[in-house]
Amino acid sequence: MSLDAVLARIDADLEAATGRLFELLRIPSISTDPAFAGDVRRAAEWLRDDLAAMGFAAEVHDTPGHPMVVGHMDGPGPHLLFYGHYDVQPVDPLSLWDRDPFDPEIQDTPKGRVIRGRGAADDKGQLMTFLEACRAILAVEGALPCKVTVFLEGEEESGSPSLVPYLKERGEALKADLALICDTGLFSDDVPAIVTQLRGLLGEELTITGPRIDLHSGSYGGMAMNPIRVLSRILGNLHDADGRVQVPGFYDDVEELAPELKAQWDGLGFDEAAFLGEVGLSVPSGEAGRTGLERLWSRPTAEVNGIWGGYTGAGFKTVLPSKASAKVSFRLVAKQDPLKLREAFRAWVRAQLPADCTVEFHGHGASPASRMDISHPAFEIARRALSQEWPGEAAFTGAGGSIPVAGYFKEILGMDSMLAGFGKDDDAIHSPNEKYDLSSFHRGMRAWARVLDGVAQG
Ligand code: BES
Ligand code: ZN
Repeated sequence: MSLDAVLARIDADLEAATGRLFELLRIPSISTDPAFAGDVRRAAEWLRDDLAAMGFAAEVHDTPGHPMVVGHMDGPGPHLLFYGHYDVQPVDPLSLWDRDPFDPEIQDTPKGRVIRGRGAADDKGQLMTFLEACRAILAVEGALPCKVTVFLEGEEESGSPSLVPYLKERGEALKADLALICDTGLFSDDVPAIVTQLRGLLGEELTITGPRIDLHSGSYGGMAMNPIRVLSRILGNLHDADGRVQVPGFYDDVEELAPELKAQWDGLGFDEAAFLGEVGLSVPSGEAGRTGLERLWSRPTAEVNGIWGGYTGAGFKTVLPSKASAKVSFRLVAKQDPLKLREAFRAWVRAQLPADCTVEFHGHGASPASRMDISHPAFEIARRALSQEWPGEAAFTGAGGSIPVAGYFKEILGMDSMLAGFGKDDDAIHSPNEKYDLSSFHRGMRAWARVLDGVAQG
């Protein structure tokens, strides 16, 4: 294929591509909140129609949860599966957004032009980089240089409950020589990254109940057990003074980082002070005696993501509540087994309950860590492709976040994955005022065109 002509087409079409992304960003496809189920479907249909307009055989596949979008286009050479997710995180607290999260716009910032809006970086802007690369190739060449299947999920941000059953039932149709996953970030502003390992995730919600009903905290305080006290004591016990997680057996299946990998990571020159400084912090939290990148990429964590109970409205109310709840997530590494740890966590909580208190648990997703096989030739092709688009050489890195599908592709379909994404640390994913740099969007499209061209040439 004529790569130069394709890259020129991408450049010329950038404004139109941004317009198409805006259409997708305007659909509030928040997967975790049932109130938005219709919008999630609308986003799936928008993507199906966009794929069909390009000539893909595209379908929306229903699941018990949100639908999957699948598009196929034949071509010569290797078969690539592209994965992205079209669902987004909730927007709250809405008051901290500078504009409507679903009314995207281009903004000029001191660090360049950005696309502002929920999902701009995670993951609509990213998945559109691949679709736009395909669109440009098709416009110039009339065909793709390889066989391509596009697989877009609508439940990634809510623990992918339908994904495993779907892959077991219909996964054969997705099986390709390699999966490309675009849902990660650059290593730094100038250094692109191919992520070779991801942490897993275990989500747990717990509610502790004490008295049968809410009580007057004067009439009962001193006699009645307060479940918020119980909950905060237990959550306070999650870590010891060195930041190690206290759930028994938590570190059993954690492995030390291989010395070569540690040396490679040390060589990346990660700027811990800048990383923390960007978010108003200065002192690393987490496990003592570990480098920043180890803490982020190869060590497991426990974090409280939400906590509630009693009266939190305006003013003051002297209540001794009946219930207190929290959402807790664990990032998992190496061979840590999410289901085993779920039981260990629940037993550890139960063992700390005082008389008269009960606890209920609700699981939210459980996926193990995953590691990519970098011996596949596409990794070198992608390293070159990305290095041509950003000032620095592409690096092989880890990522602290979780993308459960990479592990499932391997486990269920025997398919390897390669993760390349173009987000930046300051994109504020999962946070108010999410953005995606226009340069990430633009270079991302160009990088995928190069990858497709490189893979086709073998
Ligand atoms: N795109 C992120 C994962 C990610 C974040 C990768 C940062 C690399 C760097 C993804 O959409 C995400 O947030 N996943 C959830 C998965 C969970 C709900 C199972 C996560 O990591 O919390
Ligand atoms: Zn994502």
